[in-house]
Amino acid sequence: MTETAQSLSTDANTQIAEALNQCVAETVVATMLAQNFHWNVTGMAFGPLHALFQEIYEDHFTGQDDLAERIRALDMHAEGTLAGMLKRSKVNEAEGAPDDKAMIKQLKDAQETLAETLAGAGEIAAKHGDTLTEDLCIERGRTHEKFAWMLRAHLQ
Ligand SMILES: [Fe+2]
Repeated sequence: MTETAQSLSTDANTQIAEALNQCVAETVVATMLAQNFHWNVTGMAFGPLHALFQEIYEDHFTGQDDLAERIRALDMHAEGTLAGMLKRSKVNEAEGAPDDKAMIKQLKDAQETLAETLAGAGEIAAKHGDTLTEDLCIERGRTHEKFAWMLRAHLQ
């Protein structure tokens, strides 16, 4: 049965919001990764990489807002601190000053992790009949798989 934010049980809302908060956390950390790399990338591919990293962080900035606002529509608390996000996230921040190839690899790995996390959150939403959250997770997952492919293509 299809549920709405209002008809879902508190238990369902809690489980869905927990999964979505992990999606928000990882999207925020990946936003920072992409912006960090947008600023610091060097080398002969500077132009296209600088532009691609910008495309990614702009997408993620919108994505984190959509995910967090879905949590609020479910009447749950959206994680709003960087410390909390770093604790929840399976995507890690960059360390030191990676070269262009290492940047692409780390951001590709982040996109693949995010695609998995979004797929998992979508499954939890589907289990509870929350098709609107499931739809958002599918849309975000597809975007992360697209970016994973675009980044992976640089390494082949
Ligand atoms: Fe810029």
